[in-house]
Amino acid sequence: MSSSLSLWRSLCYLTAFGAGLQSAARPTNPTKAMEGNGFQSRIGPSILEVGGGLRNVFPADNFNRNVSTAWWDTDVLDDGNSNEEAKNTAKDLKLLGVGGYEAPKEIEKIFEFPPGPSFAKRLVHDGTVFSPECNCIFLAELHPPMEGFSADAMPWVWRVNLNNTPLTTEKVYPSPQMTVPNGVYYYKGSIYWAQEGNFTVPGGIVRMDPLTLSTEVVLNNFYGHRFNSPNDVVITRDKVAYFTDGYYGYDNFNDTLKPELANGVWRWDMKTNDLRMVSGAGGGPFTNPNGVALSLEEDKLYVTNRGNTSDNPAGGRTIYEFQLSNSGGIPVTGGDVFAYVDSGFPDGVKVDRDGRVYGGVTGGVTVFDSAGKHLGIIRVADGDVAVNMQWVDDWLYIAGRDYIYRVQLNSSGVQGL
Ligand SMILES: *[C@@H]1O[C@H](CO)[C@@H](O)[C@H](O)[C@H]1NC(C)=O
Ligand SMILES: *[C@@H]1O[C@H](CO)[C@@H](O)[C@H](O)[C@H]1NC(C)=O
Ligand SMILES: *[C@@H]1O[C@H](CO)[C@@H](O)[C@H](O)[C@H]1NC(C)=O
Ligand SMILES: *[C@@H]1O[C@H](CO)[C@@H](O)[C@H](O)[C@H]1NC(C)=O
Ligand SMILES: *[C@@H]1O[C@H](CO)[C@@H](O)[C@H](O)[C@H]1NC(C)=O
Repeated sequence: MSSSLSLWRSLCYLTAFGAGLQSAARPTNPTKAMEGNGFQSRIGPSILEVGGGLRNVFPADNFNRNVSTAWWDTDVLDDGNSNEEAKNTAKDLKLLGVGGYEAPKEIEKIFEFPPGPSFAKRLVHDGTVFSPECNCIFLAELHPPMEGFSADAMPWVWRVNLNNTPLTTEKVYPSPQMTVPNGVYYYKGSIYWAQEGNFTVPGGIVRMDPLTLSTEVVLNNFYGHRFNSPNDVVITRDKVAYFTDGYYGYDNFNDTLKPELANGVWRWDMKTNDLRMVSGAGGGPFTNPNGVALSLEEDKLYVTNRGNTSDNPAGGRTIYEFQLSNSGGIPVTGGDVFAYVDSGFPDGVKVDRDGRVYGGVTGGVTVFDSAGKHLGIIRVADGDVAVNMQWVDDWLYIAGRDYIYRVQLNSSGVQGL
């Protein structure tokens, strides 16, 4: 029998409750206010920091953590008496608190996804975007298929209606249907999806009306070449789109033709139709670029990279920072490592109005200041992965594999500013 203990888990709860240390009340066993649609429950305290001393020397003689595990699930491989020490160094971080720094923040679960199709290995919920027209959030559902299957082309789009109390979430059916939509951005009344495509429908960018849900393909080729699998997109105020393209459809979905183009970041000036690759070709850093985000001033572009797989130690797990010049972004320079994350890989990435960078990783949303210093992690339910997120005022909505969450913070996103 293994002696490994997930001592972390209990430590975090204990310390997060502060001096009171109410024994074993597990925040991941929340009170469900309501089942099914409108499901709302709290798990908390949810914003955690690793104490400085603990970062230097882990308080156990023998421990191990793999790259798809959250830090509080680090396996302690001996039964050493390290609890007290760890308890004193793991801190509940009052990150971006609203209503004062005293009360520990709690994340709310607002929706639990039903199981995916039987052929799916797991679910991924990505591409969260807010539309003020409908006062709603759209997100995509994707499911890497089990061996022997290819991805199903259904639209798999969910909508969170913020007009209702409690909030309601339902599957919606854009028409014509999209083919594996993924990342998404809002621009002047329209929703723009990065669509991965499949064997018969090339991927690209699809515009969707947030009220009628009617769709229109607005980009699907580079001089007759199919894109590999467009993953995420942002659009500047001046209508220049940046989108990532990787091998996901080919490698993970078994659903696209063999890639003919380099993985990388494309810049598409939607006013002039000028389409160029700005990073990745010629041996750039990317093996499966994923999330993309703009800073408020639109002078910085953040791009995440997964690598071949998220649980490969040599995988990407990196957020790169690019500089966009003030002449329409060109030339795009930089591409330095902004942050290397400690778990999973940063899938979705978002920037807040104060320049902090948020990445969805195993266990939660990892947050960095604008200089790349790690501030802490907004923790989601045990076993879940934060995939992408979207601000609506000072609420951060988080799309996980299993749930949609939200947490109120003292900041907001850059959309519409
Ligand atoms: C990583 O560790 C977790 C928790 O111990 C385990 O469930 C998972 O299977 C491990 N993953 C790999 C790739 O070993
Ligand atoms: C919220 O953030 C602002 C800076 O953006 C700060 O001045 C203010 O004190 C913060 N409020 C709370 C309650 O932390
Ligand atoms: C890929 O999908 C096809 C069906 O389109 C299926 O026959 C094949 O077994 C799948 N391959 C793998 C490796 O899952
Ligand atoms: C590709 O997706 C379209 C719908 O978007 C679907 O009609 C078609 O059957 C899919 N092709 C394959 C090979 O699955
Ligand atoms: C990643 O995938 C590429 C292309 O399939 C392959 O050439 C490379 O060896 C892989 N790298 C690792 C670390 O698995």
